[in-house]
Amino acid sequence: MVGKIVQRLPQPSKAHYLGKGKLEELLSLKDSLDYDVVIFDDDLSPLQQRNLEDVLQVKVIDRTALILDVFAKRARTREGQLQVELAQHEYLFPRLAGQWSHLDRLGGGIGTRGPGESQLETDKRLIRRRITRLGEQIEAMRKHRALYRRQRGKSGIPLVALVGYTNTGKSTLINALGRADVLVEDKLFATLDPTTRRLKLPDKRVVLLSDTVGFIRKLPPTIVTAFRATLEELDEAAVLLHVVDLSARNAAEQCHTVEDVLADLNLLDKPRITALNKIDLLLDTSRAWEEETAIEYLSGRCTGDDTVLISATRGWGLNKLLETINHVLSSSDRRSLPARQKDI
Ligand code: GTP
Repeated sequence: MVGKIVQRLPQPSKAHYLGKGKLEELLSLKDSLDYDVVIFDDDLSPLQQRNLEDVLQVKVIDRTALILDVFAKRARTREGQLQVELAQHEYLFPRLAGQWSHLDRLGGGIGTRGPGESQLETDKRLIRRRITRLGEQIEAMRKHRALYRRQRGKSGIPLVALVGYTNTGKSTLINALGRADVLVEDKLFATLDPTTRRLKLPDKRVVLLSDTVGFIRKLPPTIVTAFRATLEELDEAAVLLHVVDLSARNAAEQCHTVEDVLADLNLLDKPRITALNKIDLLLDTSRAWEEETAIEYLSGRCTGDDTVLISATRGWGLNKLLETINHVLSSSDRRSLPARQKDI
């Protein structure tokens, strides 16, 4: 990154998002900074994006496009990839007109249909067709997933779903538990959904551990819809394991973002464990903390019965985490007992 500017305006400008003065400032910075991409930490309308590119003569990317790009690189499951592709096409569709306007300028006069326009129509038709096709594929996959979930439900194995802000260490934690030799690779589950693994708890109970996409502040609406199916799985979870990056400067804000998404999905009543991760980064390494001392030191600063301090990379606190999962599952078993007895 070569520079950053902030604009304070009650309303963004309809035509360029930035006010006149800020736009001139950004344009004048081009000489000194020699930037070739400008990224906006907000959504731009297709018109704003096109106008900005016209004025600045560089590529302009908005928040949704950037997040979609990150998701496209990180989508692990086939369903995830299809959902990202669908969201990308839906994002692109209203922006197509701008992409062909240079052809209009070349060939189209008043009253004529320029090559740009017919090319645009062809492109729109292709994209519409692709969007329909992707929708069908995703629907088929959803049905398959629902079937898989029902099978899993029948198997009676409780699901522990990892949630958390992006980059808090969810995947690292799943792998760390694997290294601790508590994960049992299950071919059936592995082929259907590579982000779900089987895990044996200290009391020998087996649970499924499943990763979800990282949450993010101001999640663009197109992405919320696109990732609905991935998050639907959280409904089935017996316990949510919220992984927090305790070393992040805005850890509290990240926690609130996750809470908001869980509230949107009506999941706040689910039993939840909070794993405060990356505690190794908070320690003064020169003091050569022993694992137990470190955890004791930091535990004193955190409250909450079901909060565990961990370091996924160092393997700290993982046994305590497994015991907590055990404990929370047993408590929720006890809570649901009267309902089950009624059934008999
Ligand atoms: P998303 O897939 O974006 O949601 O990310 P994630 O939550 O799965 O995070 P990931 O496991 O990819 O970890 C993000 C970064 O944090 C990686 O560089 C990890 O090596 C690092 N990390 C994870 N756990 C720890 C930890 O306990 N200590 C330290 N120092 N780094 C960690």
